Amino acid sequence: MPVAFTVRLVARIGEGFAHMDLTITAQGLLQVAGAGDAPVLLHPIWLRERLPDAAVLDPQTGQRLEEAAETPTDLRVTAAAHDGTIAFSDGFATRLPAGWLAGAIAAQPRQAQHVHWDGTLDAARFPCADLADLRARPAALGALLAGLDAYGFAIVRGVPIEPDGGLAFADLIGPIRMTNWGGMADVKAIPNAYDLTMTPRHLEPHSDNPYRDPVPGYILLHCLQNDADGGDSTLVDGFHAAAMLRSIDPAAFDTLTRTDVTFRYHDDSAFLEHQAPLIERNAAGDVVQIRYNNRTEMVGRLPVDQLDAYYAARAAFWKLIAPVSPLTLQFRLQPGELLVMDNYRLLHGRTGYTLATGSRHMRQCYLDRDMVGSKRRLLQPA
Ligand SMILES: [Fe+2]
Repeated sequence: MPVAFTVRLVARIGEGFAHMDLTITAQGLLQVAGAGDAPVLLHPIWLRERLPDAAVLDPQTGQRLEEAAETPTDLRVTAAAHDGTIAFSDGFATRLPAGWLAGAIAAQPRQAQHVHWDGTLDAARFPCADLADLRARPAALGALLAGLDAYGFAIVRGVPIEPDGGLAFADLIGPIRMTNWGGMADVKAIPNAYDLTMTPRHLEPHSDNPYRDPVPGYILLHCLQNDADGGDSTLVDGFHAAAMLRSIDPAAFDTLTRTDVTFRYHDDSAFLEHQAPLIERNAAGDVVQIRYNNRTEMVGRLPVDQLDAYYAARAAFWKLIAPVSPLTLQFRLQPGELLVMDNYRLLHGRTGYTLATGSRHMRQCYLDRDMVGSKRRLLQPA
């Protein structure tokens, strides 16, 4: 049985010098300990497949050259030297820069830090900015997108009050998502509406277009006119509602994460359909997406006991998000304001309005999730 041994690597990191102790364990793992830090164990294959070595990663793109799945699964680290050189059991050797090693043992990136909120959220805390400032200062856009990530919504002011004025904001991020309805679409009461959105009726809290795959990531709702009686915007933090359901009724939460339902939109030119649960979790169990759209959801013909459970769970969730619930945030968009909403997290709606008293005219479009995340990461402070 090999015996563990340690070498001390002393190197310049940033402005000063630091040391790290490299220990090869009896199992051939590399243990790295910075000064004062708890030691971190690095799996040999984890280490090997991300080595900053031109034989492993292409120096220009950072993309891997070696076929990682062909790495021997019994790979071990066999040697380490004071200059950071390490060797593996298959004969490969490379020198690890101290700064790179420091990054390798740094804390794992945490999941986004969401700020859960309810109907009492003070307007002073809404992430918001003026379009002119966002155009002038990338840092302002970075801060707004960080706020959008934390709260799930943001408000942009000073957006040109013209039909495609919202594109001035979208263009700061990336191309808008085109759908079968085009790019920028009216949200306004019209005769022969093809969607309840285009009527003066109130709209229950919902997420948009769950029948698409992928579901549109962010909604940009640009207000051009809003002077009728009623027509306030309503928002619910779906992640907060899901966390509450998980806490007060774990069985209902579980049912909504395990039951795939069908969302469907069908007209003369489109037949859109997607099956997914109302509450979606990732492999770690974290809630990553809420789908709630009463207008287009139909559960399949499941066994009666499963339907019993589903209907009860859906009713329990609805009770949390319904317009009269304490989770509902209500405010009024003014002309020239644009509301950005995370369509994977928020449920949005509106109060009904009276056409005889004025007009309510919004224009909306979508941005894909990856483009918003990309811009946020590019602009986040180092
Ligand atoms: Fe909507």
